[in-house]
Amino acid sequence: MSRVAYVDGVYRRHRDAAVHIEDRGYQFADGVYEVIAVRGGKLIDEVLHLVRLRRSLGELRIAGALADAPLKVVMREVVRRNGVVNGIVYLQITRGTAPRDHGFPKAARPILVVTAGCSRPANPKLVEEGISVITIPDIRWQRCDIKTIALVANVLGKQQAREAGAYEAWMVDAEGRVTEGTSTNAWIVTGDNLIVTRAADHSILDGVTRQALIAIIRREGYAFAERPFTVAEAKAAREAFLTSTTSDLLPIVAIDGQPIANGAPGLVSQKLRADYLAHVAEGG
Ligand code: PDD
Repeated sequence: MSRVAYVDGVYRRHRDAAVHIEDRGYQFADGVYEVIAVRGGKLIDEVLHLVRLRRSLGELRIAGALADAPLKVVMREVVRRNGVVNGIVYLQITRGTAPRDHGFPKAARPILVVTAGCSRPANPKLVEEGISVITIPDIRWQRCDIKTIALVANVLGKQQAREAGAYEAWMVDAEGRVTEGTSTNAWIVTGDNLIVTRAADHSILDGVTRQALIAIIRREGYAFAERPFTVAEAKAAREAFLTSTTSDLLPIVAIDGQPIANGAPGLVSQKLRADYLAHVAEGG
């Protein structure tokens, strides 16, 4: 089956799909995106993704993008045309195409691109053995809550992690506190079994997986706090883990090469992963 992408109103062969060279996404990273998991043919936590998308568009003052109802139709059609049962939908909305000028163009209209692709669940080895992260300075701008396509700091961080043999890089603010991973949210479980993740202020993306997991944590009655934690506190934690649409929940067993507790995935992380996967199995 040849891949199909939706580009500005038209379904195209993926290999021929293109936007104009003066698309403001290309020139200014002037746009937003979402990555939604497809499991068993269903778009997981679609509503939460759409709420976040509208918020991102609002923060960038991009008006006139396709409304939720037709957008849902397009996403389903792209999933169907690509035969995706398990994978992801990627959607991107930029401010549009216009002669290059930093200020908002008067005539441009938003351009929507939607793609979908198959992917497998996380490598079981990563789940069984856990993953490692490194820590790096957070060099991003001060509105990381907006899911913009301006990701070059995240790109550099992820590459640094890979070159260090790690799965992810945790970014650290000027006070030595972890903000988040380059494409994931960061969590620890303290010595007295308190689950901790940073509050969703302007310094992190409020992950949809994070939101879904917080709902599960509250439902199950776990001790939980939304507050910053330092790298030192994370290294001394009982457990650590990360969450994202594409990674679900993965246990972290080493930070900067230093083992967390006994260096094996923790019980709370494993239980929360199972709870989260049950939520996904129900369609999110
Ligand atoms: N990344 N933090 C950052 C910086 C992210 O880019 C992401 C998602 C997350 C987790 O958000 P969610 O749970 O909604 O996936 C946190 C996506 C998956 C990506 O860029 O591919």
